[in-house]
Amino acid sequence: MSESDLPAPAVPNARDAVRALRPSQIREVANAGFGVDDVLPFWFGESDRVTPAFIRDAASAALTAGATFYTHNLGIAPLRAALAEYVGALHGPTSTDHIAVTSAGVNALMLAAQLVVGAGDRVVAVTPLWPNLVEIPKILGAHVDTVPLGYGEHGWQLDMAQLLAALTPETRMLLVNSPNNPTGWVMSRDEQRTVLAHCRRHGIWIVADEVYERLYYANADAGAAAIDAGWTQSRAAPSFLDLASRDERVICVNSFSKAWLMTGWRLGWIVAPAALMDDLGKLVEYNTSCAPAFVQQAGIVAVQQGERFTQELVLDLKASRDHLVRALSDIPGVDVKTPPGAMYLFFSMPGATRSLELCKAMVREVGLGVAPGSAFGPQGEGFVRWCYACDTARLDAGVERLKRFLAQHDAMR
Ligand SMILES: Cc1ncc(COP(=O)(O)O)c(C=O)c1O
Repeated sequence: MSESDLPAPAVPNARDAVRALRPSQIREVANAGFGVDDVLPFWFGESDRVTPAFIRDAASAALTAGATFYTHNLGIAPLRAALAEYVGALHGPTSTDHIAVTSAGVNALMLAAQLVVGAGDRVVAVTPLWPNLVEIPKILGAHVDTVPLGYGEHGWQLDMAQLLAALTPETRMLLVNSPNNPTGWVMSRDEQRTVLAHCRRHGIWIVADEVYERLYYANADAGAAAIDAGWTQSRAAPSFLDLASRDERVICVNSFSKAWLMTGWRLGWIVAPAALMDDLGKLVEYNTSCAPAFVQQAGIVAVQQGERFTQELVLDLKASRDHLVRALSDIPGVDVKTPPGAMYLFFSMPGATRSLELCKAMVREVGLGVAPGSAFGPQGEGFVRWCYACDTARLDAGVERLKRFLAQHDAMR
């Protein structure tokens, strides 16, 4: 038989679960902007500022000193110890045995899901939500049901009865992201208490994505004086770690990306029961083996010397948030509320009921790059997300473009 007689090979496909994943709508909008010379990008969740010099210097020094080798799966001992102390100062006593270093928050979320869920398991997620949280369990074959926040006069609110009804005894894992991307919603301490009690009763795992815990504005005004006074109270949003014991079914995911502007470094951590650590170490081995050694060294410096930086960053972000809220509120048809956390405004505007088309048109026509609400699930439709982590002049330039777009599309009103 010659080769030409063989049947044509089938088109190679990835697994069904992978093919069914939703592609990123933010990326789709960014692609629509290719070819547009002058785009002001507010679509991604990162600051336009570079990582502070003292952290970059620490990485350079570590590289120069030869920190180029594999490390322990769970991270180098001094970083785990530094994180245990940092978490302990914010949320109560935490030992190194409860800390694992990861390759940023996304990897931490994947590891947490791999630890807890498998094919056929039921997961519940509070939405609108950054898509990665919803898609990751699906990669593992789990099924994700969503509980939407409601939007009203006071911004985004959780309907607790609805959430508890969704958290049936058959549910394996609850995913909560607070402060939330994209809405800026923050789960209150009382809400956390109720959810924790319910999940304890039914043996449901809580995976709490707390990567924005430091970007919380309720207490930010205490400012530099408080830093000097060694102030440790309420520097972070309410956390499940404030309520849960370290050895129950609660896994908290965190990251260096937001509090120290280290998005490109890919460094994060997990706080989890000590009993999980051996298995978590195996999963790290088979995913990434470890976070880069010189990045971990820089992480120690960030955690130990970065407190003033983080608190000043929060004050800057708060000023940017308030500035943008004021500017957008002046635009007829825009409905914007002041969110208590994270670094986004998630607001409605004329045309946002088809937010993907709207955002593509805005980037093409006026070079304004914002993310469509529908990227965060169907419950996000009708809104757009604007990351305000930049200076106010840039925000003003973006607002001018928005006004120009709306003037050109008078019919939308
Ligand atoms: C809610 C949420 N969780 C986790 C992450 C992960 O961030 P990283 O992987 O950079 O730590 C992000 C990033 O934007 C996020 O918005």
